[in-house]
Amino acid sequence: MQLMLAPLHGITNHLFRNCLNRHVGSLDAAVTPFLAAVEDAQLNVRKWTDIRPENNVGLEVIPQLMGNRPEAMVDTVRALQGMGYRRINWNIGCPSAQVVRKQRGCGIMPHPDRVEAVAHAVSSQTDCAFSVKMRLGWQSPAEGMEIVERLNAYPLDFIAIHPRLGVQEYTGTPDLPALRLLLDRCRHRVVYSGDVVDLPSYEAIATAFPNLHAVMLGRGILKNIFLAEEIHAGHTIPQDIKRQRFSNFYHDLSDTVATARGKHGALSTLKELWHYFATFVGMSDDELRELLRITDFSDFEQNAGKYLDN
Ligand SMILES: Cc1cc2nc3c(=O)[nH]c(=O)nc-3n(C[C@H](O)[C@H](O)[C@H](O)COP(=O)(O)O)c2cc1C
Repeated sequence: MQLMLAPLHGITNHLFRNCLNRHVGSLDAAVTPFLAAVEDAQLNVRKWTDIRPENNVGLEVIPQLMGNRPEAMVDTVRALQGMGYRRINWNIGCPSAQVVRKQRGCGIMPHPDRVEAVAHAVSSQTDCAFSVKMRLGWQSPAEGMEIVERLNAYPLDFIAIHPRLGVQEYTGTPDLPALRLLLDRCRHRVVYSGDVVDLPSYEAIATAFPNLHAVMLGRGILKNIFLAEEIHAGHTIPQDIKRQRFSNFYHDLSDTVATARGKHGALSTLKELWHYFATFVGMSDDELRELLRITDFSDFEQNAGKYLDN
């Protein structure tokens, strides 16, 4: 079973991906956080720092697009192919209100004709290996079922499924019985995404769904950057070794982000990450709140350093 890094907008950008790959590895590919699909006239590929090939050496990257207009999707797919990408993913699972309101992300799931129009346009007008990342539906699993059946007619690379409804956002638990019904109807390779946080949760999914093509690691790998390595090894790495390696990873990451974004930009990126790293270093909620209140980069790094091993 392959392991992929899940896209987390604002978090799993190339700086994070490369740092993770330098210190841990063990991932077969990463789907990037979404880029907006636009028509040729609005395309500005120079703005796509995150997916520039020179920024993505060493880990296979699958750019993800957000959009709902077939022409915009085709134009953007072609631009990505021009940059050398063959595999491209389409986000129809994002539950954010402002995305859904525009019938993008999960907001397109109640409109299977629109989903099919994009799949048809991309598969008939380009030769990319197109994939879709979806939820069970926006309001009902019947929506996902309809989409899976429609997509069976198109040559997709894979369908990634996060088995929650859009209206749930991140609450509740993945609905595995509903996922099973979807898999029974799906003729494409399936990638699972959702709540894999440790070896037991990985093994539960891999055992329940042995035919999956891959499992995506998202919030779980942020809370334990060694998750993919542990899954491959089949056992956990001793905590003292992990803490030392995590410190090295963190110092590299904060230097890299500060160099690329400046200290102010780095502060907001690192604060986002510490919501997850706090779990790894065993920080209490109060300690995390205290850290996140700091507004000066050097003070922040000094305080964060107290939770690292060197
Ligand atoms: C902060 C955040 C940002 C996300 N951004 C994206 C995104 O850009 N594209 C996407 O397809 N999914 C996105 N997701 C969903 C994740 O890729 C993943 O499917 C979901 O978090 C469930 O998996 P997990 O429990 O392993 O995190 C995001 C999730 C979070 C929490």
